[in-house]
Amino acid sequence: MLIVANWKAYVDSREEAVKLFALSKRLSSLIKRVKIVLAPPAPFLGLLATKNRSKVSFAGQDISSTTAGASTGEVSGKTLKTAGASYVIIGHSERRAMGETNEIVLEKVRRALSNGLTPIVCVGEKERDDNAEYLSYLKEQVTTVFRPLSPQERLKIVVAYEPIWAIGKHAEDAMTSHDLAEMVLYIRKILSEYLMGKSVEKVKIVYGGSVEPLNIRELAGGSRVDGFLVGHASADKEMFSALVKALK
Ligand code: PGA
Repeated sequence: MLIVANWKAYVDSREEAVKLFALSKRLSSLIKRVKIVLAPPAPFLGLLATKNRSKVSFAGQDISSTTAGASTGEVSGKTLKTAGASYVIIGHSERRAMGETNEIVLEKVRRALSNGLTPIVCVGEKERDDNAEYLSYLKEQVTTVFRPLSPQERLKIVVAYEPIWAIGKHAEDAMTSHDLAEMVLYIRKILSEYLMGKSVEKVKIVYGGSVEPLNIRELAGGSRVDGFLVGHASADKEMFSALVKALK
């Protein structure tokens, strides 16, 4: 099970960042079936990941769509890699809300791949409608990224399904494992247009949106999901510890 801890901007002190990293290392050795990937704010990524020799991996929270040069405020793929990241979150809904389009997401995925970073591509509908238009919306998000890539590149992507209506709330507002199971199947069906036979199963699909200690076990058990992208609960030591231990 892949657990991506998206600290967003919740963690803003060095002390807190160091404690959460230490906790993640302990949890990784305690629960072998869990692979923890920490996504700290960029300066803390440099602080924690550069000399990391543990089982915990690191992710950028975003990546620049440009290579380098005159781009104030941007963090390039090469910089992330040098700082110790092996993954990068791309197209998070909080970035998309600031104008990031499917095309920009694709550009960022290419930058990640060319720098040896595993892209965690976020997709998910804003809301659900009775005509199931949200399914076409989701398909467009997945297709724009997968279609132009080579089969080898497609296999490297982690799809993070994060319905926006479920983000930043509590366990009771998250998806049910039954609905999640349906969405995982649906995403695999879309992927089967771009990947042959059994290789579709190799693409990891994780879920994000109000994952907490209370619901993670049920979501994991009933849905064939490969892991979780956790926001607020990953920035709280007690919650994060309980959440990972619930997967034991
Ligand atoms: P949440 O955030 O766990 O706080 O809902 C998830 C995310 O936005 O990645």
